Amino acid sequence: MIKPFEKPIYVTKPFLPPLEDFSDGLKEIWDSHWLTNNGPVLNRFTQQLSNYFETDNVCVFNNGTLALQIGLQGLGISGEVITTPFTFVATTHALFWNKIRPVFVDIEPDYYTLDPEKVEAAITPWTTAILAVHVFGHPCKLNALADIARRHNLKLIYDAAHAFGVRVGNKSIAHFGDMSMFSFHATKPYHSMEGGMLTFRDSGQKSTFDYLKNFGFKNEVEVVIPGTNAKMNEMQALMGSMVLECLDEIIEKRWQITCLYREKLKGVPGIRLAPELPKDVRYNYAYIPIEVDEQEFGMSRDQLYEELKKYNIYARRYFYPLICDFACYRSVSVKDPLAVARAVASRILALPIYYDLHLEDVHKICDIIIAINQRKSNRQNTKIKGKV
Ligand SMILES: Cc1ncc(COP(=O)(O)O)c(C=O)c1O
Repeated sequence: MIKPFEKPIYVTKPFLPPLEDFSDGLKEIWDSHWLTNNGPVLNRFTQQLSNYFETDNVCVFNNGTLALQIGLQGLGISGEVITTPFTFVATTHALFWNKIRPVFVDIEPDYYTLDPEKVEAAITPWTTAILAVHVFGHPCKLNALADIARRHNLKLIYDAAHAFGVRVGNKSIAHFGDMSMFSFHATKPYHSMEGGMLTFRDSGQKSTFDYLKNFGFKNEVEVVIPGTNAKMNEMQALMGSMVLECLDEIIEKRWQITCLYREKLKGVPGIRLAPELPKDVRYNYAYIPIEVDEQEFGMSRDQLYEELKKYNIYARRYFYPLICDFACYRSVSVKDPLAVARAVASRILALPIYYDLHLEDVHKICDIIIAINQRKSNRQNTKIKGKV
């Protein structure tokens, strides 16, 4: 009989740099009395990001949602945008806030990213862009989407909220498409407490994004666009800067955790993990999504989710329900049957992964899943024997 964890194990837990280092950084902020509005810490952080992503085309925001909203507005996207229903709601909200109609199409079954074939079929004269999501940090079908966007003269935008640190063919994922949005939310492997960033192809966009995030101010006396307030403050920038310095270590630890989950869950009936990513992808190990097959595992995803809670393990059903099934989007017409997305949403469960999750705890989480499965199969076998 395995005992429940004494303390709750949540799906994620933010990485924190040493408190003394953060205090030293705070001292600089205290000395300067500069808390927000393009302060020295933010400027230094922006330069660090620019070096990390090997581009000057970066713009930093107070969160990823506003970054995406502003990015769509800055690029002048309108009409219809083809997107995925299998994501966090903010992806679609950013369209809605720009009065853009989301056109939901299906995902592919391996990595859960937008299915290019379905994208092509959904293009209409009103389509202006594709908004694809590197969901769980899995890179989208980059070449196929780029090809569709080029042939149909559409903007290609990536919600890369989960993909900080991901590289493909020795290039940062930020270098694909016309624009990418990264979230620095505390739940992500990389974070600045709250924060976000746009990277973009056309350097001419930079000033528009900068104006839009600062009320439209061009200078003290000129307001050129009805902008909003989406500026990152100095404390966020300090956290972002410190976490960036530790990112390699964070990713390395997450890799170890992922390997252990893969090893231990391999062969458990009814549990499926996404296939290993292609060799040219450097992954950030952002999530451990598993699919639970009710028939084979012996219980549904929801039952497993509830069972795990009894052991003090709080997995999350990312991403369920599909966006189009939320009350606020039910009136959006959906032509694609979304067969894959619906099946995946009903089976998906994200398991705990974070920097200071101990490997022995990963062993225990897996042993609990295995024990739940065995208990269920023993009961079923007894029932079958009882009938014979
Ligand atoms: C796929 C996706 N898009 C957008 C966002 C929004 O980012 P933020 O929380 O930084 O506003 C998130 C965040 O959590 C996300 O997971």
